[in-house]
Amino acid sequence: MKLTPTHSVSLRLTTVAVLGLATAFAYAQDVQTVRIAHAGPTSGGIAHIGKDTENGVRMAIDELNTQAIVIGGKKIKFELAAEDDAGDPRQATAVAQKLCDSKVAGVVGHLQSGTTIPASSVYNKCDLPHITVAATNPDVTKRGYATTFRLIADDNALGAALAVYASDKLKLKTVAVIDDRTAYGQGLANVFKATAKQKGMQILAEEFTTDKATDFMAILTNIKSKKPDAIFYGGLDSQAGPMLRQMDQLGLSNVKFFGGDGMCTEKLGELASKAAALKGVTCATGGASVQKMQGGAAWKKKYDARFPGQFQIYSPYAYDATYVLVDAMKRAQSVEPAVYTPFIGKTKLKGITANIAFTPKNELTVPAVTLYSYKDNVRAEH
Ligand code: ALA
Repeated sequence: MKLTPTHSVSLRLTTVAVLGLATAFAYAQDVQTVRIAHAGPTSGGIAHIGKDTENGVRMAIDELNTQAIVIGGKKIKFELAAEDDAGDPRQATAVAQKLCDSKVAGVVGHLQSGTTIPASSVYNKCDLPHITVAATNPDVTKRGYATTFRLIADDNALGAALAVYASDKLKLKTVAVIDDRTAYGQGLANVFKATAKQKGMQILAEEFTTDKATDFMAILTNIKSKKPDAIFYGGLDSQAGPMLRQMDQLGLSNVKFFGGDGMCTEKLGELASKAAALKGVTCATGGASVQKMQGGAAWKKKYDARFPGQFQIYSPYAYDATYVLVDAMKRAQSVEPAVYTPFIGKTKLKGITANIAFTPKNELTVPAVTLYSYKDNVRAEH
């Protein structure tokens, strides 16, 4: 066929189109999208804590996507699957099942012990690894699931550290204990009570509430009549805040107040409306403070620039947990959970939060505990 100029142009265009398609096809084959989930409460009373951990995962994923990571011969593009468990155990198992079914590669979550414990059974059944950066009940890892990992200290460490501080440092003799009847609040209160008793402290009263309550006047009035040196609260900042306000109203502003990581947030001062009782607070988190972490200051600067005013507690751990998952995928040269999960246990990673390695029970080898108080209504390390 004799090509006219018109034919030759259309042939060239066809060639370009075919080449373009071929390139697109090769690109599609070369790039694999791998979804990493964050699962936690991004709605409800502690949405601010859930969002903080989600932000940590988001930050890590965006950074990892600039690193041109190749796993199993394919370029990997990571995507965040953000799931809200609303802090509810049933919703958490539904979220876990959804993440199993939709074949995400790994999960950072959940945030509370009450959601993490039931969700961990679902992940274990579908062989999906998850790393919690906030659930502190010892039972989280007790069943020995190969798919469950924790990146912070547990309540045995937090509860004991608080009781030792109350007894040895502040020389307090008596305490009233309140918990919110969740796996976390109740578990932490039990550890605190056990250590406090060993230290010779007297438990003058035990009261209970829920993780939805806002009115604590009745239980605080009971406690007031016992005149304790301190109140221990096993629960979240969404209750501890109003509780501190109501302590002020009942003339209990000078009673010391102890609690774990669930109330040890940046936001507590605001939730307590700067109550005078806030100055008696000592709370513990299951890791180093961001100021003391290796590279923590630079990391926090980046976080604050991207998520102003949102830092609470565990976002650096969520960031590191994302890196732990991807590091295991790289060493396994696979993004398949069944293939790379055994590599998580062999992690040796210099994270922002710590040098990360796991015990045979999938706990951090050297978890830190940090005590905080509130100076001028702002959280400050002891
Ligand atoms: N550490 C808290 C829990 O386990 C947030 O629920």
